[in-house]
Amino acid sequence: MTPWLRAAYDREAPRYDDRFEAQQAPKIHRLDGLLPSAPGLTLDLGAGTGLLHRLTGRAVLQIDGSVGMLAQARGPRVLADLERLPLPTGVAAAAFCVTALIGPASPLPALAEALRVLTPGGWLALSVSRHEDPEPVARTLADLGFHILQHLDMLDDVGWIARRP
Ligand SMILES: C[S@@+](CC[C@H](N)C(=O)[O-])C[C@H]1O[C@@H](n2cnc3c(N)ncnc32)[C@H](O)[C@@H]1O
Repeated sequence: MTPWLRAAYDREAPRYDDRFEAQQAPKIHRLDGLLPSAPGLTLDLGAGTGLLHRLTGRAVLQIDGSVGMLAQARGPRVLADLERLPLPTGVAAAAFCVTALIGPASPLPALAEALRVLTPGGWLALSVSRHEDPEPVARTLADLGFHILQHLDMLDDVGWIARRP
């Protein structure tokens, strides 16, 4: 996460829910409905202000690189970059990542980290904004060996339900 992006989200944090909750809510509910409530640890990668936990009640460990965004969240949270997760390998049964892969950086480091921390067979519910190019994300998921179960067309995002090999 670049310092510029972190600073932008730190600044945006107090207004984020007012500006974006209505936009994020349908995507969050759709992804939540498609992921089984697997026993074990579930991650919310790029959790922001914690809308997923607040809107669905799902127990998640929220991870984000913006201290301002996480300060608005409730429940367990960790300040960290998605490209370097402070978690052991194979620890999570499932992970959400909703509109959090942002900017021109390659999605590979963050998706490789998601792969590393998921247990074999672990679930990934991922979306990216249509303003980003989804093609590198789709290609990277395939290159990493994720099994793509569903492609999703979700308003201003596109998404995938995938499982770790
Ligand atoms: C558009 S918000 C989405 C937040 C939340 N998932 C939602 O649906 O409301 C993007 C979030 O991803 C976080 N983020 C983006 N890139 C990140 C990275 N490399 N490491 C950690 N957090 C990152 C930002 O700090 C921000 O909170």
